[in-house]
Amino acid sequence: GQAERGGYPHFMLKEIHEQPRAVRDTLSGRIHRSGEGVVLDAVRFDPEWVRQLRAVYLVACGTAYHAGLIGGRLIERLAGIPAWTEIASEFRYREPLVDERTLFVAISQSGETADTLAAMREAKRRGARVLAITNVVGSSVAREADDVVYTWAGPEIAVASTKAYTTQIVALTLLAVHLAERTGFTGPLGRKNLLESLRQLPDAVEAALQVEEEVKQIGELAGGWSDAFFIGRGLDYFTALEGQLKLKEISYIHAEAYAAGELKHGTLALIEQDTPVIALATQPALREKMISNIEEVRARGATVFAVIRRDLTGVERYARHTVKLPVVHPLLMPVVAAVPLQLLAYYAAVAKGTDVDKPRNLAKSVTVE
Ligand code: G6P
Repeated sequence: GQAERGGYPHFMLKEIHEQPRAVRDTLSGRIHRSGEGVVLDAVRFDPEWVRQLRAVYLVACGTAYHAGLIGGRLIERLAGIPAWTEIASEFRYREPLVDERTLFVAISQSGETADTLAAMREAKRRGARVLAITNVVGSSVAREADDVVYTWAGPEIAVASTKAYTTQIVALTLLAVHLAERTGFTGPLGRKNLLESLRQLPDAVEAALQVEEEVKQIGELAGGWSDAFFIGRGLDYFTALEGQLKLKEISYIHAEAYAAGELKHGTLALIEQDTPVIALATQPALREKMISNIEEVRARGATVFAVIRRDLTGVERYARHTVKLPVVHPLLMPVVAAVPLQLLAYYAAVAKGTDVDKPRNLAKSVTVE
């Protein structure tokens, strides 16, 4: 009843609102007081082994796969190790080049997804070291992995994943820093700034929740949409992928995500008068490019809803409405940017009157391959 949902009409909305706490718990005790390093529970990678790594593979399904896309990019940027993110059911059957010099990261909220487990067993068989990122203590994925990093999101009931997703990104960020401390590859962005921003992330997620009222209005409008496009570049493309999945899962509105620079190679043909486009612009380095992509869809009549990092001015000029997000380190923006997209999907589903917490044809955890 209402009580177990903490007064919220649906578990999904309750879980969206739990994110500041979930992110805080997932960070808790893992960043050194000195501000220099990351402790990942019992994970103690030998620096020499990390320096010899040829690749990191991140494998998952659904929403966890989108967290993996972001995690892979962070590992490359921060640790300087090539990272590949793949869908578990694809990885398993393609004879992957995995050996002792591979770190395999399985990401699974439930820790019971059959495809993820099968991929993980295959990687182990080929000699990889396996690390699991999961939300369920003692789950199959946790038991079979060499190392485990828990997300402390707490039980997630709604089928559409929200707080598990954002905490997976947080856990992956910590993993990326942990690896970076061993390879010594700081990358262009600096670990210190990142850790500083990471500490402020729970507050930033809290601040991001303040967009709820305005996003609710867009969501009510979205209840009448038949299609929607989500566009972004870099990390924003991965956020776009998660945004379209959320919308599809619970509101049954057809949605597609595109890397904004790729629009002109096909998808632009689908943009007509009033086609809704959700444009993400949270990455300072890609601001100019994003503005021209937004102009491209505007010129074909699209109605643009922009989701931007507050300080990236100039984007709002082309949008019907602009949702402004708090400023955190660019590599952490996916956590903050997930919030309005979750709320958009939620309010679109409510407007359409679907079964928000238990969408048709979907299960919380898929234990068959
Ligand atoms: C199902 C759920 C998704 C989830 C995916 C992976 O499809 O409906 O929300 O992202 O499984 O689940 P996992 O527990 O492995 O993260």
